[in-house]
Formats: sequence, structure tokens, C-alpha cells
Amino acid sequence: MAEVEFDPAAVTDEVSEGIGEIREASDLEELKALKSRYSGAGSAMARASRAIGSLSADRKKTAGQLIGKLRADFGRAYGLKEGQLQQEEEDRRLRAERVDMTLPVDRKPQGARHPLTRLMEDVEDFFVSMGWRIAQGPELEAEWYNFDALNFGPDHPARQMQDTFYVKGNQARDAAGFVGSNMVMRTHTSPDQARSLITRGVPLYVACTGRVFRTDELDATHTPVFHQCEAIAVDEHLTMADLKGVLDKLAAAMFGPEARTRLRPSYFPFTEPSAEMDLWFPDRKGGPGWIEWGGCGMVNPNVLRSAGVDPDKYSGFAFGVGMERTLLLRHDINDMHDLVEGDVRFSQQFEMGE
Ligand code: DAH
Repeated sequence: MAEVEFDPAAVTDEVSEGIGEIREASDLEELKALKSRYSGAGSAMARASRAIGSLSADRKKTAGQLIGKLRADFGRAYGLKEGQLQQEEEDRRLRAERVDMTLPVDRKPQGARHPLTRLMEDVEDFFVSMGWRIAQGPELEAEWYNFDALNFGPDHPARQMQDTFYVKGNQARDAAGFVGSNMVMRTHTSPDQARSLITRGVPLYVACTGRVFRTDELDATHTPVFHQCEAIAVDEHLTMADLKGVLDKLAAAMFGPEARTRLRPSYFPFTEPSAEMDLWFPDRKGGPGWIEWGGCGMVNPNVLRSAGVDPDKYSGFAFGVGMERTLLLRHDINDMHDLVEGDVRFSQQFEMGE
């Protein structure tokens, strides 16, 4: 069998060239390409291996030893470089993924107080500045306080004026000693009129802000849970002029010096006479105009009597305004959803500039 050409110097040269390039390789991909070039099927080393079989016995031995040594040299150089490149790659990755444990982290993003909360505080400040007291009644209220004490008769059609959540299986028992009424989620803050009269007596100057409940669906202008501010003053010689004075001052405090109020005759069981109260709103979109803002009137003598106050000696006025409505008007907000959805970004807008 003829010898296939076998040139030890050429193989040695190619392998040492390969080892040289391996030492210079800059990444694992390049390294792999060098491996297949210098030891793959077409390489001098592979060709020489194939040629060995055809060599004469004495050449076979030296050729075999040479190829074995070249393979080992090449393999060692490859292994060394591979380890080194893998290490470098690992180091690079670790550096890229490094976490700086000393950086400050924002684990508790800052919230913002709801504009309604702030509005109610403004309203309370207004009353405190006039020397009034602030009171807070319960949200789960005796039907008696919510209706009866306010002169809503048992079959009074006015009971249907407000769509009430009645609460099952509860009987009222409270500090004023009243026992035996059904319970409701209060439909307005007016029960605080009766509560304040009973628990504080006269003369009385009290404002109450708080949550009220009605069976309304949530839409752009309604929400089943909303807020009101109630004011009641009972003293000797109070008249509707006092009521009007306080309303105008409150309007100015909420909406600026140009704001004022007007009264239109109306009906509420707990005031007589009663009025709807409109607000003169200079900055309204579409031009200035009157906008309905709340209800008011002179405290009905029957309410005074229910609370044990002598209507011949004392008189008083009361009013109630919706807080959401006030906020919508004051800030030109068009959708109730914005007020109730609790998106902190909404509230943050009102934190600015303070
Ligand atoms: N409670 C009434 C309502 O929720 C508002 C109201 C009207 C309050 C007249 C008053 C008042 O104090 O005098 O619709």
C-alpha cells in the first residue's frame, strides 16, 4: 500500500500556528472556530492522523508520537484559553449585574393626602376661626336620629327623599341614652344637629363633617358614599340674617372674596323656613352663574323640642353642604370617579405649591 503523504514539519507548523492564534483569541466563539479550523476534519492534524495508517511501521511510530504530542499541546492550549475566557466572561457578567447595596431605595413610595380630607380640614378651620366647635357623629346611626328627631314623621314622604341603607338586626343604644331604634347608615350629617343639641345643650355652635351613605350608583355626579358638612347654631335671638352671614363668609373662605350665596324657598322637615342655597360662582366655565350648593333654614321648633330645648326661648339656624360638590366646583373636576378611585396621582396634583 502506498504511503499517503505525511509531512511532519507542515503539521507541526500548522499546529503551532493554531496554538499561537488560540493564545490570541478574544472570546469563546472565536476559540471554537479555531478549534474546528486546526483540529477539525480539514485540518493538517486530522489529515496526518488519517495518513498514519498507510505509513511504514517505523514511520508510523514516530508519526503517531508526533501527532499525539501535537494533539496534547493543542488540547492543553485550548483548555487553558477556554478556562481563561470563561472566567473573563463570568467576571464581565458579574460586573454588569452588580447591585449597589448602598444605593437608597424607594421601598415606601410617598402617598398624598386626599383633597377631600384637606377640604374638610379647611372647612373645620373656618368654623374654628369663628369660635365654633367641631363634632363627629357615628356613620352607623339610629334611625331615630337620622329621621325622627329631625321631624321626619313615621310615614312622612320626606323619608323617601333619601335612599337609605337600613342595617339589619341592630338596635341603637347610645350615650344620649336612646334605646330601641333601627339602625341606618346615616343619609346625611343632619342627625348631628340632634346629637349636638342633646349632648351639648344650648347655646350651641357646632359644625360636623363626615361620611354619609345613600343607595346611589356611582357615576360622574353621584357616589353612594360621600361627605357633608353640617352646621347648627342655636342661641337666643338668632335669625336668618345670621345664617346668611355665615353662608357668605363660608363661600368666600372656600371660593374667594367674590363668592356669595342666595337662598331660594324650599322644604326640609328639620328647618322652617327652609331654603336651597345657591353659590355665585364667578369662575364657572361658560361664564359666572348661580350653582346649587346646599340646604339650610331655621331649626324647626320640633327638632328643638325633641332635644329638650325650649323653642320659645331659643332659635337657631342650620345648613348642610356636600363636600364632593364643593371640591368639584372649586377645582373644576368633572368626574366623581376621580374622587373615589384612590389613584395617588390625582391627590398629588393638589399637593403642589404648598
Ligand atoms: N340634610 C340635607 C341633605 O342631606 C341638607 C340640609 C338641608 C342640611 C337643610 C341642613 C338644612 O342643615 O338646614 O339633603
